[in-house]
Amino acid sequence: MYGRVIGVTMLGVGGHPVTVEAFVGRGLPSLTVTGLPGAAVQDARDRIRPAVEHAQLEWPLRRVVVNLAPGNIRKEGAGFDLPIAVSVLVATRQVRPGSVAGLAFFGEVSLRGEVLPTPGVISVAIAAARRGLVGVIVPAANAVEAAQVDGLAVTGVTSIQDVVGFLRGTWVAPAVDADGPGAPATASADLSEVRGQDEARRAIEVAAAGGHNLLMVGPPGAGKTMLARRLPTILPDLTHDEALEATQLHSVAGLLAGRGLLRQRPFRAPHHSVSTAGLLGGGSTVFRPGEASLAHRGVLFLDELTEFRRDAIEALRQPLEDGVVVVTRAGGSVTFPARFTLVAAANPCPCGFSGDPRKECRCRADQLDRYRSKLSGPLLDRIDLRLTIPRLTKDELLGASAAEPSSVVRERVVAARERQRSRYSALGITCNAHLPGPLARREAHLSMGAEGLLARAVEHMALTGRGFDRIIKVARTVADLEGTDRVSQGHIAEALSYRTAFELDQDLARVV
Ligand SMILES: Nc1ncnc2c1ncn2[C@@H]1O[C@H](COP(=O)(O)OP(=O)(O)OP(=O)(O)O)[C@@H](O)[C@H]1O
Ligand SMILES: [Mg+2]
Repeated sequence: MYGRVIGVTMLGVGGHPVTVEAFVGRGLPSLTVTGLPGAAVQDARDRIRPAVEHAQLEWPLRRVVVNLAPGNIRKEGAGFDLPIAVSVLVATRQVRPGSVAGLAFFGEVSLRGEVLPTPGVISVAIAAARRGLVGVIVPAANAVEAAQVDGLAVTGVTSIQDVVGFLRGTWVAPAVDADGPGAPATASADLSEVRGQDEARRAIEVAAAGGHNLLMVGPPGAGKTMLARRLPTILPDLTHDEALEATQLHSVAGLLAGRGLLRQRPFRAPHHSVSTAGLLGGGSTVFRPGEASLAHRGVLFLDELTEFRRDAIEALRQPLEDGVVVVTRAGGSVTFPARFTLVAAANPCPCGFSGDPRKECRCRADQLDRYRSKLSGPLLDRIDLRLTIPRLTKDELLGASAAEPSSVVRERVVAARERQRSRYSALGITCNAHLPGPLARREAHLSMGAEGLLARAVEHMALTGRGFDRIIKVARTVADLEGTDRVSQGHIAEALSYRTAFELDQDLARVV
């Protein structure tokens, strides 16, 4: 007796259709799974029989062999419980073979036959639609994810009974609202609450407009964390394609909690104790995307940058450069998208007051050296905007805040992003920060004055090649915020001013 249904395995963030065949033959009662099942799939074996029996269905008291094809890719994820169970129900003709045609099944089941929330459903639906299937049977808790994919009939189920009822035509699934419950309400924060710090406010705007990485260095209580947390309020919404990408990553990580498409750009702020695996992704049986990937198309905020583990920070270099995390392990390598804007904050020294004109720094020279060595080097070289932030003055603290609200700043950001999008549409990139170095200069359309200032900067500042490209890209964003095609001297000067953290101050004084 033979049955066949379609399931889906996870390959990184994408789904891949798998044929699940069940053969029920003579022999002692047993269930064998062949075809490179991963540990989580092997684990399913013991669950499936009680789950089926609990649903008032019959488990064959014979030898059952389930094969997963193609046999050359490892089958990952807990989503195989359901297709394996259904393949056996088809093989034993408790369900008609014709009723499963054109459908993909995905979901973890409990011992009592409940279909549980399972990570990765949106990727399952995308893979099913690509394969030309007509429908997917997925956990009801994740049905809204699948409903984001056009042209697919989505059936959300809560139990094996539901599935069987649906296949026999005796049960109809409730309609799925593709809009879902929406994002949970967050306490409204607004840029207008930030007093003073005009330069930092502007830097945040530039970072948002061009997708530039940003480091803020300043004394305790200057507003670094406050500013960074308000960055999402000025970011443009995700485009539909970006939303699909980001949602897949959050789906695979099991973080969607019944929501559909992400609409706002993700803002991830991992604690500084995060491990390298937590930051970049990892896991022994099921591979989970890390914070860098969860921040894909959004912001990764590393508050108290110097407190993070050195190896974790170093590991960020690759995604910062390539926009992906590649993790190699026994079964091959997995790639997760990780194109995020890095925002980091730190104190200038262990006591926090180095460089403060009013408060004395109590750190010893060797402490200072050790501290700053954590911030320097290759990571710093990948941060376009590096800013020293002063303590608030008395006037700023006491004065009535007349700062611009986020909504006004956001409008400028959206317009600047729109300019970039249309300029780079042929290149497949969306913002200045992602512009390949050699193209940065071509796209900048530098004025004579801009060329002159740039030449002086190269002469006097210890610019690396990357640093040079970077200044042009930031200047390009400043020009985009202003709505002009040509990058002028003023734009370059502003870009140069965002390199003030630490010793760069003195370099700058020599140029401007
Ligand atoms: N520029 C500012 N405008 C208004 N309030 C501010 C400002 N800076 C700080 N504050 C107030 O001080 C609190 C602490 O600020 P914040 O946490 O942003 O400081 P920080 O620079 O991150 O300090 P630390 O280095 O200790 O992390 C804020 O929640 C806010 O109430
Ligand atoms: Mg802080």
